[in-house]
Amino acid sequence: MIQLQNVNKVYELGGEKIYALDNVSLEITPGEFVAIMGPSGSGKSTLANVIGGLDTPDSGRVVVGDQEITEIRDKALSKYRNSKIGFVFQTFNLHPDYTALENVMVPLILVGMKARKRKKRARKCLRAVGLEDRLKHKPGQLSGGQRQRVSIARALANRPEIIIADEPTGNLDTKKGQEIIDLLKTLNKEEGVNLIIITHDAKIARQASRVIEIKDGRIS
Ligand SMILES: Nc1ncnc2c1ncn2[C@@H]1O[C@H](COP(=O)(O)OP(=O)(O)OP(=O)(O)O)[C@@H](O)[C@H]1O
Ligand SMILES: [Mg+2]
Repeated sequence: MIQLQNVNKVYELGGEKIYALDNVSLEITPGEFVAIMGPSGSGKSTLANVIGGLDTPDSGRVVVGDQEITEIRDKALSKYRNSKIGFVFQTFNLHPDYTALENVMVPLILVGMKARKRKKRARKCLRAVGLEDRLKHKPGQLSGGQRQRVSIARALANRPEIIIADEPTGNLDTKKGQEIIDLLKTLNKEEGVNLIIITHDAKIARQASRVIEIKDGRIS
């Protein structure tokens, strides 16, 4: 269970306050597939970052499973992020000097997986997103859509309980985008992985079990 209680995130820039999250409370049950929709600047990425432990709210509680992630610190928080969460960043966040294979291996190194095993696992994840033939390419040698798929493969690597994907199909054509959604849906159905997908695409949102709408930092 993912629970947010009265979560606030305010940015102050040049005396102006921006309420990225304005008293947000919500619950996501295990195995749920939710889509998050809303205009640009409405707080979607902020919400994703807060659930994924990448950002701390100014106030309010975020509880995931038996962990209150607004209370845990550095080491425990990194462990939470790396073992429980598969995060697909809106801007990919790939390491520019690493190959596709190496990028996907990073989270596996962090959990101490042996070299042979992690190569095998990383290759399998890249195969799942259709990038078997680009293992040795670095991000700069890949197309935007291919980079996006590397970041999705990396999110799958540690078999996360929760996948949080920020516009995971934003750089893909309709067919490739749907293939990625199908892959995520399979993980949801067969392994009970929680899916939280931010999207502007109504066709994708329609496939979720619930759509959460956010506007000006508030859930409607
Ligand atoms: N580091 C920051 N400093 C100041 N303001 C910020 C910062 N990060 C986000 N904001 C502001 O918070 C609001 C929410 O940002 P957020 O990135 O969550 O929007 P979003 O819904 O993901 O938008 P998009 O669809 O364009 O990705 C925006 O108005 C943004 O300008
Ligand atoms: Mg965003």
